Amino acid sequence: MDLNAALENLKTKHVLVTGGGGFIGSNLVEFLLKNGVKVTVLDNFSTGKPENLEEFETNPLFHCIEGDITDSNVCTSVVQNVDVISHQAALGSVPRSIEFPHKTHDVNATGFLNMLHAAKEAGVKRFVYASSSSVYGDSAISPKHIGSEGKLLSPYAVTKRLNEEYAAVYARLHDMETIGLRYFNVFGPKQDPNGVYAAAIPKFIDRMMRGDKITIYGDGEQTRDFTYVKNAVKVNVLALATENDRSFGCAFNVACGAYFSLNNVVETIKQELVKFDRFNPDTTIEHGPERPGDIRDSLADVSRTEVALGYADLHVFEAGISEYLELLCKQ
Ligand SMILES: NC(=O)c1ccc[n+]([C@@H]2O[C@H](COP(=O)([O-])OP(=O)(O)OC[C@H]3O[C@@H](n4cnc5c(N)ncnc54)[C@H](O)[C@@H]3O)[C@@H](O)[C@H]2O)c1
Repeated sequence: MDLNAALENLKTKHVLVTGGGGFIGSNLVEFLLKNGVKVTVLDNFSTGKPENLEEFETNPLFHCIEGDITDSNVCTSVVQNVDVISHQAALGSVPRSIEFPHKTHDVNATGFLNMLHAAKEAGVKRFVYASSSSVYGDSAISPKHIGSEGKLLSPYAVTKRLNEEYAAVYARLHDMETIGLRYFNVFGPKQDPNGVYAAAIPKFIDRMMRGDKITIYGDGEQTRDFTYVKNAVKVNVLALATENDRSFGCAFNVACGAYFSLNNVVETIKQELVKFDRFNPDTTIEHGPERPGDIRDSLADVSRTEVALGYADLHVFEAGISEYLELLCKQ
């Protein structure tokens, strides 16, 4: 099924997006609403922002519920009258999970099971959810493909791995149509640049515009398969609508299949900002110690995602960063 067919399918459905106030969730909500799909968001706005959803408030297809997935009563109530679920709510960040493993577990593991079980009880079969490239752990195999996982390196990775195990068990036991999406370093509009647990790209952009200090942990030659958020939105739509029953109970890589070093990313952002006359020359770059739980290189094999879900026509890194910065610089 291609994207247009998937959207046609979803126009007849009511989609629940948990974590819809966050970065990836709000981009997904925006795309669904623009295409005439009815959406309810569940979010407690712990890391997400109500401003990400402000523009949809008057849209009759949009509804927002403020609530916490660690409360099973909330989960039971929000799954009533929905047809399919995209579960994005979680506490991101490897360093946060190392510092606060209990909180990460409550939200990412218990909260996940609350949502999955509530969906099962309500007869909502389709449960698409955010997993993470962190489940590959210390695997040195490149590109990373399903089955090449190594030893996990953080409590965050443990929770995401647990999500995949629960989702596979619920698919087997209860015929649920679970699909896991292993995101690789997603970036784009509405990503929060602030806070100690912010992701690298929005943080670098923010610092370069202000002329602040940028800290790169390690030598900066570590590589990542940076993924523009439009790719993550697209794969959610495809997974919410797919009729390929062999994808149920499985997880898929969501990336571009190309890698860039952090040094490379910093230079690309700088050049783009210079183009828009928004690079502040006071910016300085320093290198800090490598962070525990970080992997050296990360590149994805996305061929299985393409075959199973029709994940194609991707936005490559350069086009993504250029579109993102143009949007930011116009603000
Ligand atoms: N951004 C990435 O590069 C990336 C990479 C791998 C996996 N992921 C996963 O993708 C999903 C979305 O990530 P994101 O980058 O948009 O993060 P985000 O922090 O912007 O979004 C997460 C959303 O979940 C909400 N939330 C957190 N705890 C909640 C709770 N207890 N109850 C209800 N809502 C809650 C937050 O308020 C936020 O709106 C997460 O599951 C994350 O682990 C993201």
